[in-house]
Amino acid sequence: MFFCSLLDKFPIQMWNLFLFEGQDSLCAAGEIIIVIEAFVMCVSLFKMVTYWVHTIPAIWMILTALLYVMMKEIGPMEACVKVVPGLQYSCYRTNLTYMSASIPPTTEHLDFSFNYLTTLQKSVFPRLPSLVHLDLTRCNIQHIYSDAFFNIQNVSVLILTGNPVKYVGKSSFNILKRLQKLVLVDIGFLSLDSLNLQNLTSLQKLQLGTNHISSIALPNYAVSFKDFTLLDLHANNISVIRAIHTSVLRGIGSNITLILFRNPISSIETGAFKGLYLQGLDLTETFTSSPIMKDAIGNLSDLSVKRLKIGGFKDSARNVIYTDSVHNLCVIDFQEIYFSQPVPWSLHSHTLACMSNCSKIILNRVALNVWEPVPFNNLEEIIVVRGKMARLPGPLLSHQHSLKKLVITSNERSMIEFVAVEDVPSLEYVDLSENDLVMSCCEYEFIGSPKLQYLNLSLNAAVKIRMTGLSHHLSLKTLDLRHTKVILENACVDMHNLMNLEYLDLSFSQITFKTNTFNGLNSLKELKVAGNNFIEDIFSQIFSNLTTLEVLDISNCAIENIPWTSFESLHHLKHLALSGNRLTTLYFLTHPSLSKLVSFYADGNNIASISSSILQNLPSDLLLFDLSVNPIECSCCQLEFISWIINHQSVLRNPHQMSCKASPVNSRVTDFDFTHCIHIKQVIFTVPIFAVAMVLLLSTLVYKFQFHLRYCCTLLRGYRTSTQQECSYDAFVIYSSKDEAWVLDELVENLEKGVPPIQLCLHERDFEAGKSITSNIVDEGITGSRKIIAVVSQHFIDSSWCRFEFELAQSWLVLGQSERIIIIILEDVKDRKIKRVFGLHKYLKKNTYLKWKGNALSNIRFWTRLRKAIIANK
Ligand SMILES: *[C@@H]1O[C@H](CO)[C@@H](O)[C@H](O)[C@H]1NC(C)=O
Ligand SMILES: *[C@@H]1O[C@H](CO)[C@@H](O)[C@H](O)[C@H]1NC(C)=O
Ligand SMILES: *[C@@H]1O[C@H](CO)[C@@H](O)[C@H](O)[C@H]1NC(C)=O
Ligand SMILES: *[C@@H]1O[C@H](CO)[C@@H](O)[C@H](O)[C@H]1NC(C)=O
Ligand SMILES: *[C@@H]1O[C@H](CO)[C@@H](O)[C@H](O)[C@H]1NC(C)=O
Ligand SMILES: *[C@@H]1O[C@H](CO)[C@@H](O)[C@H](O)[C@H]1NC(C)=O
Ligand SMILES: *[C@@H]1O[C@H](CO)[C@@H](O)[C@H](O)[C@H]1NC(C)=O
Repeated sequence: MFFCSLLDKFPIQMWNLFLFEGQDSLCAAGEIIIVIEAFVMCVSLFKMVTYWVHTIPAIWMILTALLYVMMKEIGPMEACVKVVPGLQYSCYRTNLTYMSASIPPTTEHLDFSFNYLTTLQKSVFPRLPSLVHLDLTRCNIQHIYSDAFFNIQNVSVLILTGNPVKYVGKSSFNILKRLQKLVLVDIGFLSLDSLNLQNLTSLQKLQLGTNHISSIALPNYAVSFKDFTLLDLHANNISVIRAIHTSVLRGIGSNITLILFRNPISSIETGAFKGLYLQGLDLTETFTSSPIMKDAIGNLSDLSVKRLKIGGFKDSARNVIYTDSVHNLCVIDFQEIYFSQPVPWSLHSHTLACMSNCSKIILNRVALNVWEPVPFNNLEEIIVVRGKMARLPGPLLSHQHSLKKLVITSNERSMIEFVAVEDVPSLEYVDLSENDLVMSCCEYEFIGSPKLQYLNLSLNAAVKIRMTGLSHHLSLKTLDLRHTKVILENACVDMHNLMNLEYLDLSFSQITFKTNTFNGLNSLKELKVAGNNFIEDIFSQIFSNLTTLEVLDISNCAIENIPWTSFESLHHLKHLALSGNRLTTLYFLTHPSLSKLVSFYADGNNIASISSSILQNLPSDLLLFDLSVNPIECSCCQLEFISWIINHQSVLRNPHQMSCKASPVNSRVTDFDFTHCIHIKQVIFTVPIFAVAMVLLLSTLVYKFQFHLRYCCTLLRGYRTSTQQECSYDAFVIYSSKDEAWVLDELVENLEKGVPPIQLCLHERDFEAGKSITSNIVDEGITGSRKIIAVVSQHFIDSSWCRFEFELAQSWLVLGQSERIIIIILEDVKDRKIKRVFGLHKYLKKNTYLKWKGNALSNIRFWTRLRKAIIANK
């Protein structure tokens, strides 16, 4: 640039001079060389710049394309998924018609569901001696030949659900001596008689749901199934149960669960279950009408069952009023009851009394409106869900000394009245969530329950915490008040005494937290306070006592800024959620105390970018980072951040939900095309390099052509101040100071002292002090003298100043007066050396010159000729 602009400053006339006057001007030739060199330099620089600018992005594009191809190239997709290589494979829904031989013989678990096998025979399965679990759900299997399972004899779980099996070979299943669980759901079986299972003595579970079986009778050989525990006959066509149907069951033992759910039972023979001890009996949705059910239950007399399931569900096709139909429940001996109704009816106190021997009562859509005490002997757990009660059955539950767990939740009625539960010394677990309760807490609500560990009052209307309300429940480990309006009776209410509390959920509880709210919670591991308000500047102190905290959720609290030291004391924090706030920076994440952080949620904030210093100092164990739904700034300035996002998609949660704030709006951050940024970056990088290179080049050039430059500048200056000025000297002498003796003794002596005297300009004597040498040469010497005498000698050639003066003179005289130079050859100089002085060689060839010989005769001629030359054209 510098060079070119310098060229611009050259007067255009110079070019004219050279071109039109046709003068063989040495100076102009010199100029032209510089001009050409500079031009060539500029052109080559320009070429280099354009080459770089164009080639580097091209190389980058090739490299990124290669990388892309390499990343895409994962190899041909295996049809089956290696869940645990060598052990567990899944070929689920791969449309396979054969079993791949590539499944290794070490495989233990194979999911081959939803494929097409049609016929099972020996050749279908490769030898898989380790196979334990085989799932052949819905493989369109129609024929199972006797040798079908020969290669997989050690299978213990075989699932054949949903295959339209038409033919089963006689010993197909008998080969599977280790079979423990056989699932034959939805096959279309009409009875068990066609199955030969007599050799399966290890069988524990036989699942025959959704078939057309009409009897619960097992084949006689099943008596030898000593470990048999489950006969699942749900959704079959069993309508009658007779005593003879249960004889095999009775023979097997006492640990069987019988599922008759959703069978159309119309009659049970009296005493059909007599003397039978079952682990479980599922009779839900089993009776077609209320009278049938009433009768059938009456006929279940002398049945002992641990877990009895009875009743119906909401979308039941049956039209049974269960509360009336279970009147006879007392004939059955049961320890746990699961009673469900399609609509919430109140349980009769008589029926409740039948449950007095129960340890566990689980009621779904059953209202407990019984106020007289029931003498429960052994009640440990009562769960009432969707009960539609007006009041909490406090009196019923009071004085239950064995009661440990009380759950009354999702009451289907707005506003339930709280009635205190008294004297329940074993009570540990209370869940009263989702009841629209308005209550106070907690010393008068749960009296005499010092072991209370779990209290869930979430999703209620309002809970008012009294001043000392929690101090009677110091064993509390879990307290959940989420989505319940929490009213603190007194501003000083705090939880200082809950030293055992490990879980505290106060999310969306309309609390404004103070600095000391969480003081003293020395065991707290999980704290959730989302959707509340914090007083400004509280963060530096509010968590300072929670040194054991592992999970902290402060989402949706309108937080704008979190100071760096906020989590200073939380050395064990593993999970931190700050979703839905207004954060713009995540600087606090780099605090050393957060080094154990595993997951971090910052979705739905105002984060446009994250600086590289933060990204480099993120907690090292971080496995999950949620940055979705932030206004990410997708620009080339964010290159580092965006490539971090692209490279960390395995850590980022929902990376595809991360969209750009602008240009193009809502495009995925992961789709951001940063190749054009690399382009720009490259240019940004290369421009300074070029600048430096150019400065270096220019300096070199300037150094190399310093004389040319200098005399060109001088020439310019002289040219501008147009030359016509008075000449003060007759001749300006260019000589080497080493030839001074000759100049002073001979030249000055003969010319200045001769007649007429010739006034010489000698730089030693006549140059103005304080003026630059160049100016002196031009002003005093070249323009101030009519002629210029060059005293050429060995010294002259060697002196750069002489050369400079001479070259300057030459170029100056380009302006039309080359005859003004007179050359005196003081001594013979080799041709080669003469060529070193720009133009001197040519000059000597073209013009006559004077030669100093030293003898007296030729000296006279010399002086005469010199005088003549100086005076000529005066
Ligand atoms: C299996 O076939 C069905 C239809 O024939 C097709 O829709 C499905 O994509 C195929 N699945 C695979 C994994 O090839
Ligand atoms: C089943 O057991 C019987 C008698 O123990 C035996 O003869 C028969 O070969 C067995 N069947 C198979 C398929 O192993
Ligand atoms: C169910 O059993 C009854 C006889 O008890 C029979 O009439 C009916 O066809 C059977 N239904 C099916 C689907 O097998
Ligand atoms: C009954 O089965 C359960 C598992 O369902 C088992 O833990 C228990 O030992 C079995 N009892 C007898 C007597 O077989
Ligand atoms: C509870 O058990 C006792 C003794 O085991 C028995 O006498 C009583 O009838 C049982 N009550 C009910 C309702 O089954
Ligand atoms: C409290 O009850 C609610 C609603 O039933 C449930 O979602 C929540 O997980 C319970 N809290 C705890 C800590 O178990
Ligand atoms: C809470 O921590 C502060 C220092 O951070 C300490 O002075 C104070 O005693 C602690 N309070 C409790 C109750 O542990």
